[in-house]
Amino acid sequence: MSDLNTTTEPQIPVDPLAQWGESAPRGGRAVLNRMLKGDGKVPLFLGQTLIKSLRDQGYNSTTSALCEFVDNSFQWGAEEVRVYIAQSKRDKSIRIVVVDNGGGMTPAGQRVAMSFGGSMAYEARTGISRFGMGMKTAGLSISPTVDNYTWQEPRAYYNVTLDVNEIGSKRDNTLEVPEPQLNDDLPSDLVDILTKPTSWPKNSHESQTLLATSRDELPGCLGNSGTIVYLSDCDRLSYKKEQTLAEHAIKEMGRVYRRFISQGKRLYVNNRLVEAFDPTYQMPTGRHARVEGLTETRSRLIFSRILEIPVSDNETAPTTRVTVKLFALPYEAWSSLSRKVLKNDLQVYGDSTVSFVRNDREVDIGATVRALGINKHSSNNWLRVEIDFTGEADEGFGIASNKQGVRLRDFAAEKIRELLEEPLAALRKELAELRTKHAALKSVSTVSEAERRATGAEGVQAESLPTEALTDDQKADLEKNLQALAIGLKRDDETDEQVFDRIKKSKFLTRTVHDDYHPFFDSEYKYERIILTVNTAHPFYQKVWEPLETLAKASAAGTAGEDEDAEANPNTSNTVTEALVGLQMLFFSLARTQAQLAAQDKDGDRKPLFKRFRKEWSDNLERQLQSGLNADE
Ligand SMILES: Nc1ncnc2c1ncn2[C@@H]1O[C@H](COP(=O)(O)OP(=O)(O)OP(=O)(O)O)[C@@H](O)[C@H]1O
Ligand SMILES: [Mg+2]
Repeated sequence: MSDLNTTTEPQIPVDPLAQWGESAPRGGRAVLNRMLKGDGKVPLFLGQTLIKSLRDQGYNSTTSALCEFVDNSFQWGAEEVRVYIAQSKRDKSIRIVVVDNGGGMTPAGQRVAMSFGGSMAYEARTGISRFGMGMKTAGLSISPTVDNYTWQEPRAYYNVTLDVNEIGSKRDNTLEVPEPQLNDDLPSDLVDILTKPTSWPKNSHESQTLLATSRDELPGCLGNSGTIVYLSDCDRLSYKKEQTLAEHAIKEMGRVYRRFISQGKRLYVNNRLVEAFDPTYQMPTGRHARVEGLTETRSRLIFSRILEIPVSDNETAPTTRVTVKLFALPYEAWSSLSRKVLKNDLQVYGDSTVSFVRNDREVDIGATVRALGINKHSSNNWLRVEIDFTGEADEGFGIASNKQGVRLRDFAAEKIRELLEEPLAALRKELAELRTKHAALKSVSTVSEAERRATGAEGVQAESLPTEALTDDQKADLEKNLQALAIGLKRDDETDEQVFDRIKKSKFLTRTVHDDYHPFFDSEYKYERIILTVNTAHPFYQKVWEPLETLAKASAAGTAGEDEDAEANPNTSNTVTEALVGLQMLFFSLARTQAQLAAQDKDGDRKPLFKRFRKEWSDNLERQLQSGLNADE
């Protein structure tokens, strides 16, 4: 075994940059070598390497990076912003353009804007811009080249390009933003994107509203001032396909910029106008309000409170106003909508319990906010919290320069958590009660289905149910009795008249009792009606009837299942519902048979026999259902 410490090999002169990676910029290598020799000044930022590193700022998605451009457009006065995600049919490469009709920049302003830290709103806390980083880091996170065009009069386009590879090859110790170049026209590939339909959305004539339809028309349509960011070499995207990218952008941006859109700002993605989506269901112009068949379009505001939250952890820190709102979704009006509508159109299950809005722009939304004691759970599906703050509260909300999420610090979270605790618990309880009530109503509606069908079958039965010839007095008495019966069978969704009407029409009725000593079912023939009683205390109900009902509900297409991951399965649902209806008819037919046999009974001993039969059967069934639970017994 050789001793490593006693090696006699001559020391190889070590390349100080031996650990640099293959793809490190050559210019940067030269500059660093020079610096290490003590040659020349060392800038605070090593441009050749830093610009490459900034490509990895870590945006959650292509959409969240693109939001940086839209942020700037709205901040700097745009009334209309257009995002293009255009895929080449030939090589599938994707180019991205964001164009606005805002104020544009002067050439000097543009040059500053393209430098890292360069901003016209540095450390401002009232708008979206604050860090002087967004446009550059977001652009680079998607493409190694970021082209900026800006104009403050028609056909005078100033252009600055940041090109990571070009900058990386430079050998200067200090690097400068290139000087803006004035052009009276835009490059053809860019003009094409701005004047021709993108390949998605399809049916471009109907679904795409073009900015301009020709090169000649374009300058007029671009207006007197505006800005374009052009990413011509997108090599880092969250999805490969134009359609997926665009759909994601439409969905997210409609929510992120809901306030801007509802104030009349126009935002397009691939020539399609983006509608506002309000996860709190308050905006009359929100997309949810146009979902077909809604009887209620608004959530209910439970409360809106303004809290004074310290701007930093410092005890003497000043405070800033944060508004916290709690909403309840219209459960009663919406829960019977189809799953598709609830999930896709209304996005009830979209993990959007808590939305954080900074200076009118949503910076985060989620189902779990641990700092506020809120965890993803189905009991939160039907409530929403919206928290509004300004840039003053950035430290407390942990806003990073890419503004794509909050990380609440405890000094800010504490008061909000305290405020929400009780009302949230109360609302959850209220919603849970509504759910239970609703589930009960639903189960009765399958019961009604069996009653309806059994009544319908009366016309084809070989022997009709026994009737009595009634006198007028008896008829009046029957009416009274039916009215009394109706009170006991009334469902929550019925009026007195409706239940009476239902009972008068139906030959078969079902009710439930909860009684430990009652057989699992009971039936009587009374007032010319078969009345079936199901005992919810018997294991038959708990092991057979109720599970079938739950299964039918869980797999029901067109019902509001509470488990958002469970996919609706209409086939299973129909089968299970049919099984339940069939099971009930088994009892109806048995009851009917007994009623027939009892009517033919001369001696009057059949009724007590049937009663005993039910009791014995019930006990036998109970013992059988309970056995086998513990195999050793
Ligand atoms: N669409 C635009 N119209 C006009 N000016 C713009 C536009 N986009 C960027 N600018 C200018 O460029 C500057 C730099 O933008 P950038 O997004 O990099 O940083 P910021 O918006 O100032 O801060 P943040 O990092 O918070 O986004 C802005 O301050 C603004 O002056
Ligand atoms: Mg910005």
